[in-house]
Amino acid sequence: MTALLALDAVVKDYASEAGTFRALHGVTVSVEKGEFMAIMGPSGSGKSTLMNIIGCLDTPTDGHYRFEGTDTATLSEGQLARLRNDGIGFVFQQFNLLPRLSALANVALPMVYSGVPRAEREARAQALLASVGLGDKPKSRPSQLSGGQQQRVAVARSLANNPELLLADEPTGALDTKTGIEVLALFRALNEDKGVTVVIVTHDPEVAKATNRVVRIQDGLVFYDGPPTDAALFGHAEVAA
Ligand SMILES: Nc1ncnc2c1ncn2[C@@H]1O[C@H](COP(=O)(O)OP(=O)(O)OP(=O)(O)O)[C@@H](O)[C@H]1O
Ligand SMILES: [Mg+2]
Repeated sequence: MTALLALDAVVKDYASEAGTFRALHGVTVSVEKGEFMAIMGPSGSGKSTLMNIIGCLDTPTDGHYRFEGTDTATLSEGQLARLRNDGIGFVFQQFNLLPRLSALANVALPMVYSGVPRAEREARAQALLASVGLGDKPKSRPSQLSGGQQQRVAVARSLANNPELLLADEPTGALDTKTGIEVLALFRALNEDKGVTVVIVTHDPEVAKATNRVVRIQDGLVFYDGPPTDAALFGHAEVAA
């Protein structure tokens, strides 16, 4: 069986005036369709760098990244853009909604890029808003919504094109505990009901505990990959040799 995604000895270097900084030192991880997992690690350990590569927002300096068996290095910019827009949903810590657009228009935007006709995308955006409990707020601007509501709009937007993969970088970081749990429950429902593969970056052991698999990275290397045991969540576990 082909993994949904596979990183093979992925290295990422950032070039700056101060020289080259190696953020990933050879990361090998594969994710099967339907997984619900967390990536943990201290600040600066390379989590967002890894997510950017998984989401085809950035490319490895060395090593290979395969999405459904295709080495992403062989894809053109246009093919990568299509994969990002249609195959992958993104949820960020700061929501990244467009402030001038209504909730409905924010959710509909990825469907504009993929050429869905207006009436259809508005109907679908409204249904997505309803599915995250915001069916009564289509006209609200982001500034008129609470943090948790904005994050739910962002979740609805991430699902606009029925992605196979949902990537969330600290999706509960800006939310209070109760709202964070609600957003997490939304992810769980998508995973269980629709088979969406979910990868969540989090520093919060409670969030990671709700997943089925934890990958811990430190200094750009994977040092644990396994079930969310207490030892794994609180950082005492090492990779079994
Ligand atoms: N564009 C860049 N140019 C240079 N260095 C970078 C760049 N982006 C990230 N880095 C460095 O790479 C390392 C990993 O950064 P990354 O953003 O992946 O960390 P992170 O694990 O997501 O941290 P956090 O938990 O704080 O979000 C850090 O040391 C960071 O300073
Ligand atoms: Mg980060």
